[in-house]
Amino acid sequence: MKKHIRKYYEQLHQGQKRLKAPGLGGKSLAAELGYPAGLIDRLPDEIWEDFLPCGNVLHHLHPKPGDRVLNLGCGTGVDSIMLKLSAGSGFRIVNLDSAIPALIKAWALAGQSFPGLEFEFVCADGDSLPFRPGSFEWIILNGVFNLFPEKGDLIVELSRVLRRGGVVAGADLCRRGILPDYFASEPDAWAWCMSGALSQNELSAAFDAAGFAKLALAAENMDEYFDRATFAFRKR
Ligand SMILES: C[S@@+](CC[C@H](N)C(=O)[O-])C[C@H]1O[C@@H](n2cnc3c(N)ncnc32)[C@H](O)[C@@H]1O
Repeated sequence: MKKHIRKYYEQLHQGQKRLKAPGLGGKSLAAELGYPAGLIDRLPDEIWEDFLPCGNVLHHLHPKPGDRVLNLGCGTGVDSIMLKLSAGSGFRIVNLDSAIPALIKAWALAGQSFPGLEFEFVCADGDSLPFRPGSFEWIILNGVFNLFPEKGDLIVELSRVLRRGGVVAGADLCRRGILPDYFASEPDAWAWCMSGALSQNELSAAFDAAGFAKLALAAENMDEYFDRATFAFRKR
């Protein structure tokens, strides 16, 4: 499934595929999710169709000078730019994605529109991260957690690269009940963050089992099957 998801996002960013599930991205979604209008207006119009968040994670992120932030599954890196514009630039951000075309767009967007902001770019799989233990104080996971069939393995890897006290700040869809068979039989629905969705209780339990403390978990209804959830968990 992970191979299918990587291919899906490579094709999406190469223009070979269009997002079929409506309302999953774009400038209007950013406004709806509460990203500040002043920040939204500072980003060029052409980037918005590639912004594919599941929620607004900015209010869970408070990096201090010297901190290191990993934006895992960064896509075109919009959250990274918004974080630097809103929280200062004395911290380091690594943009990581498994799809090279997404990273190329992220690199071009940052370089052309915000040459003063510095980012690092890494192509890797999120559950096999090329970093030493304790490399980050913050990890952003916006629309990414549900793309991993083995969530326990992912959380263990996040814990490994986080320092003690470090925070995973994320957003994803949570299922409201048992999903219809359609979601198991449509591989693209994995890439839409749907088929791999946990319930809110399962999400909390998964981080709890790996030694994280829950700082926040809030959800809003999206449709009959899913809520949009934002969450923050601290490594104990
Ligand atoms: C729904 S998009 C979200 C992108 C970005 N966070 C945003 O808010 O616009 C999911 C991203 O996760 C990346 N991704 C999927 N599976 C991954 C994996 N195993 N490791 C790293 N990145 C992955 C995809 O390539 C895609 O860019």
